[in-house]
Amino acid sequence: MKIAVIMGSPRKKDSYQICRQIEMQLKQFEPNIEMDYIFLSEHHILDCKGCCVCFQKSETLCPCKDDDLNLIKQRLICADGMIIASPVYAYQVTAQLKRFIDRMSYLFHRQQLCGKPALIVVTTDGGGSKQVYQYLRMTVSGWGMKEVGDIQIISPRYFEERLPKGAYGYHLGYHNKKQKQLALLSKEFIRCLSAGEERVPSFYDIFMFHCLRSKTYTSVVDRSFWKEKGWLEVSYFYPVKMNIAKRGFGGVMRCLINIVGKRYIEK
Ligand SMILES: Cc1cc2nc3c(=O)[nH]c(=O)nc-3n(C[C@H](O)[C@H](O)[C@H](O)COP(=O)(O)O)c2cc1C
Repeated sequence: MKIAVIMGSPRKKDSYQICRQIEMQLKQFEPNIEMDYIFLSEHHILDCKGCCVCFQKSETLCPCKDDDLNLIKQRLICADGMIIASPVYAYQVTAQLKRFIDRMSYLFHRQQLCGKPALIVVTTDGGGSKQVYQYLRMTVSGWGMKEVGDIQIISPRYFEERLPKGAYGYHLGYHNKKQKQLALLSKEFIRCLSAGEERVPSFYDIFMFHCLRSKTYTSVVDRSFWKEKGWLEVSYFYPVKMNIAKRGFGGVMRCLINIVGKRYIEK
């Protein structure tokens, strides 16, 4: 079993330590698990040029050819699951991670990593972790992955020896609480990876699914991808039992998108 770990930080400190701790937990349940750490700052990734060719035609026609993006994508495709980790930088993900997500934007249209379990790790000195988590959650959901959960860590409160100390000092109670959360999350991640059962999407996931499906009315390549996957008329990326409220919500979303989309095609 292989987990790809996308590391947004340019250094191997707080978020890396958290990922290593998750690795140790995972190995308690599954000793043969293999972690493939992808340190984005050590890779050559060009800035998106904004041509939209990947959306309109194919990602294979992207003008940014001579970089490491496709090698990284292959590592993600080969993995059974993904951890995506970023420190908060000015209330957002790091530039390295944002550049990577921008270049992979076509995954919001054609979800090639669909169904893989994903875990989100955010470290901070105190603020902004909610914003970063929400952005990464939107990314994981838009890529059609199964979000197992997240862990948000205030580094100076969690790491005893960490310097500089900052406004928050080390707090044993906080440290223990986060360690417990980390263990539970790792257990759930292993369960998702091995059970292969389909995770029930949240309302947010269902909303994203239908918003992204709307692109199939404006893009021929997206439509043929979604058609080939059998996603055009279904309730979610994969067959899964949903409660009546989610089925109803999805039904309303589907009708609305179909009405607006068909009008767009008729124009
Ligand atoms: C350029 C830069 C910007 C940062 N911006 C924030 C911020 O907006 N809010 C915050 O609480 N911490 C901020 N931090 C602190 C980091 O998020 C924090 O130290 C984190 O634990 C670092 O994780 P890492 O060791 O994995 O890089 C910033 C750090 C740097 C270097």
